[in-house]
Amino acid sequence: MVTFPNTSLSDIIELKNMSQTYDGGKTFIIKDFNLLVEDKPNQGQFVVLLGPSGCGKSTILRYIAGLQTPTTGEILLNGKHRTEADRIGMVFQQYSSFPWLSVLDNVALGLKYRGVSKKERNAKAMEMIQIVGLDGHHKKYAQYPTLSGGQLQRVAIARSLLVNNKVILMDEPFGALDTNTRLKMQDFLIGVWEKVHPTIVLVTHDISEAVYLGDDIYIMSNAPSKISEHIRVDLPFDRDKEIKRDSRFVDLVFYIEDRMMSLSV
Ligand SMILES: Nc1ncnc2c1ncn2[C@@H]1O[C@H](COP(=O)(O)OP(=O)(O)OP(=O)(O)O)[C@@H](O)[C@H]1O
Ligand SMILES: [Mg+2]
Repeated sequence: MVTFPNTSLSDIIELKNMSQTYDGGKTFIIKDFNLLVEDKPNQGQFVVLLGPSGCGKSTILRYIAGLQTPTTGEILLNGKHRTEADRIGMVFQQYSSFPWLSVLDNVALGLKYRGVSKKERNAKAMEMIQIVGLDGHHKKYAQYPTLSGGQLQRVAIARSLLVNNKVILMDEPFGALDTNTRLKMQDFLIGVWEKVHPTIVLVTHDISEAVYLGDDIYIMSNAPSKISEHIRVDLPFDRDKEIKRDSRFVDLVFYIEDRMMSLSV
């Protein structure tokens, strides 16, 4: 079992001894799973989960988002047990906006459910729309092709940040995008992160994306899954695409590829 060093900082997310079984307890998908995302004040961080298909990455995000309850285990947010009142937004691979609502109404939706007045929620949503670079698009319906795939993911990111600007969960958010848009969205995400400083927990199958964006990368094993390796990405904090030519970047991508291959045999 993983043990964590004690620090004086509160922990943003702590998952303790999680397990997930189906078939009445016969099949363990997740077992002895521990994850600690410590606070880095005023800084935020990128935590990346990598792992073979079906190992439980989306399940872990669903636990944190409160969309699924584990068979056993504890979920702590900021040192307290998760409750129904904790709201954390999640961005999915499939475009998850409401196509019959405008961009503005989509982004403001979380605040509407919280009973925030229309004037206040629209003002906050407009600020967020600006942060994600969708100025001038707020009246459009959030649907393809009125908005491009990348723009639709920006709507989802803006909505999640308005629900909770401290933590945002992303499940293969750029998986449905073409390579060009995907690369642009990675830089866009770095830009948002520099403005808002959230803690982002990102699931991806793209190792280069994981190294480019991640501060900490956790590799999950095959089922019964747990964290098999924690990799601290020792690259400069301010990243731009030139870093991809750096030998440390290339070495790390190859190293992780090898680790992932060793899991799938
Ligand atoms: N209701 C269920 N009954 C049985 N098995 C389930 C159920 N829901 C999920 N699973 C299994 O749990 C496992 C983990 O699923 P999950 O979606 O978290 O994997 P993942 O790592 O996100 O995979 P991918 O990379 O393909 O998205 C899968 O093997 C899936 O078949
Ligand atoms: Mg998944």
